[in-house]
Amino acid sequence: MKQAYIKIDKDFQVSKVDRRIYGSFLEHLGRAVYEGIYQPDSPFADDQGFRADTMDLVKELAVPVVRYPGGNFVSGYCWEDGVGPKEERPQRMELAWSVVETNQFGLNEFVDWAKKADTDVMMAVNLGTRGVAEAVELLEYCNGDRGTRFSELRKAHGYEKPHDIKLWCLGNEMDGPWQVGQKTAEEYGKLANETAKVMKLLDPSIELVACGSSHSQMPTFGDWEATVLEHCYDNVDYISLHTYYNCHDGDSASFLANNVDMDRFITDVIHICDYVKAKKHSDKTVNLSFDEWNVWYHSMEQDKQIKRWTKAPHQLEDVYDFQDALLVGSMLITLLRHADRVKIACLAQLVNVIAPIMTSDTGAWRQTIYYPYLLTGKFGRGTVLETRVDAPTYETKKFGAVPSVDSVVVWNEDREELVIFAVNKDLSEDISASMQLKQFEGFRVLEHVILEHEDLFAVNTEENPDNVVPHTCDLSKTESGTLRMVLKSRSWNMIRLGK
Ligand code: AHR
Repeated sequence: MKQAYIKIDKDFQVSKVDRRIYGSFLEHLGRAVYEGIYQPDSPFADDQGFRADTMDLVKELAVPVVRYPGGNFVSGYCWEDGVGPKEERPQRMELAWSVVETNQFGLNEFVDWAKKADTDVMMAVNLGTRGVAEAVELLEYCNGDRGTRFSELRKAHGYEKPHDIKLWCLGNEMDGPWQVGQKTAEEYGKLANETAKVMKLLDPSIELVACGSSHSQMPTFGDWEATVLEHCYDNVDYISLHTYYNCHDGDSASFLANNVDMDRFITDVIHICDYVKAKKHSDKTVNLSFDEWNVWYHSMEQDKQIKRWTKAPHQLEDVYDFQDALLVGSMLITLLRHADRVKIACLAQLVNVIAPIMTSDTGAWRQTIYYPYLLTGKFGRGTVLETRVDAPTYETKKFGAVPSVDSVVVWNEDREELVIFAVNKDLSEDISASMQLKQFEGFRVLEHVILEHEDLFAVNTEENPDNVVPHTCDLSKTESGTLRMVLKSRSWNMIRLGK
């Protein structure tokens, strides 16, 4: 059997994991909001029209933060349309996705939903068609408490206490030609800076995310980040990264290696942030918010058939297969390996739209990608240890030789648990992996959970929701201070050790 070695040392730590790295995203898009989390006429609806079955799954995931309301949607959004009495809210032509937005669900409903789901809100302001004034008015509506116009409006809408939203995105993907109100880096950098400056005048306790490139292959990538940050470095806290991978060409070997690209993207953006820091002789470090990441491609052809100007159509409804779950597992490992700089990350998205959770009128179910997201989010807490992986490589068309094993080790001091996440991407061979347990004397295997399936393209559906689910196995053991694991061909694994 091929061999791999995972090497750690308790004293060599990357960083504590910021729990917001396990965030998600909910956009007014397709059936994410309407029919996803909100469906007043559903048998699953609670007294506010929120779907209780979806809520249960969101709670099971323990999502720490949800970005809202977009996405491309936010760049044409008037937040005022979605507050106040529902019967007075206007319908709008929603230009990002060519649908009709009813505004029956808006900011206050989202804040209520987030409270029930026990998650924090990451709110985006519209810097596509709007600017400083509307952003600050929205912030005052949400966080103000001085008896002034917009905070009074919130109270008039039935929300006496401020929502106290701490995390804000300064627009969305402003470099993209598809964006309503696309800007050059100069234009956006100046606007982001002014908006950030004024928002912090109103509420200095907030944190702000500036838009980075929409993905690493954008023609302006690199220059965009540098120019934007040169304008707004002092007033923002994070810069965003987005990425979606696909397997259009059926090349699974390359597809599973896409987190190599994610890793480079993160490293490059860190370097750019630190270049601007150096140029400015600044003591401040700008960190990374990877606030859209996932696989996205299955639904692209069928979405071309969608009739324009309908309400909440089936849009971006990717049905994820087992190999998507493997890549999602590897992407989570990559995010964790950069826990010193990636402080926020949002799996895009949460419900129905490129999402781990799907709903129909008759129920809600977990897609394949749900499981690595659930288990990494639940057990990947504590401190990431520098994890060196010496593994065999395999050849890919896209990236050349890449390691067959992705892995990261997290030390959870509170629970006295060492948690190993590992993906074996080798499409045909199992790999025997070992790890010296040096400073973890007496630790034994508490459980080895594996996600595996004989068919890379196996999916979960409403009729067959448990086709791809994790299970425990006995493929790991400790002997004489060494952990020995068998990582089965094309599998995601979580091995928890404790006393
Ligand atoms: O998540 C779907 C879309 O992808 C978002 O609206 C946009 O920000 C990105 O291009």
